[in-house]
Amino acid sequence: ASSSFSAPNLYLVGFMGTGKTTIGRAVAQRLKYRLLDSDYEIEKAMGKTIPEIFANPDEGEPFFRQLERNFIDEGHPPENCVVACGGGLVVQPGMLDLLKRKGVVVCLHASLETILKRTSANRNRPLLDVEDPMDRIRALYKEREPVYKRAGAVILTDHRPTSDIISHVMRVYR
Ligand code: S3P
Repeated sequence: ASSSFSAPNLYLVGFMGTGKTTIGRAVAQRLKYRLLDSDYEIEKAMGKTIPEIFANPDEGEPFFRQLERNFIDEGHPPENCVVACGGGLVVQPGMLDLLKRKGVVVCLHASLETILKRTSANRNRPLLDVEDPMDRIRALYKEREPVYKRAGAVILTDHRPTSDIISHVMRVYR
């Protein structure tokens, strides 16, 4: 696939801290596709950060989920994009099947320990801004795992060089 032809989008899904943005950027570069990060697109459109949206009593998580849905429904080009999806996006009812109709869905996976390590580096994730983030990660993961597992492919990212993960994603997509 190359950008001069129409090719289906690649949707990267998976839990927070599994590397969707990092891997997405690299894969988009290889495919000469545009990279879209749902979190970033929403922040740009709203002119505020995700923690600000979550913290606003008139907005909050339900409103954020609606913004994610709008982004998927009408906020992004239908072809030649790598779309790095916020961790909860695909968990919305009907969303995984919708993404599968739109393109190729690849889920990145990591152990809970790795997720904790990777997510503690920045504080931009309101759902993990709690006293015991590991506890929250465990609970959320358990709830979401059945959906993540139904992606077109699940790729493990623990203790693996980034270049390996990138080529694995490329193999699944092509
Ligand atoms: C969320 C994941 C975040 C972001 C928001 C909610 C989630 O995206 O969309 O904080 O519900 O898992 P990343 O997966 O890019 O961290």
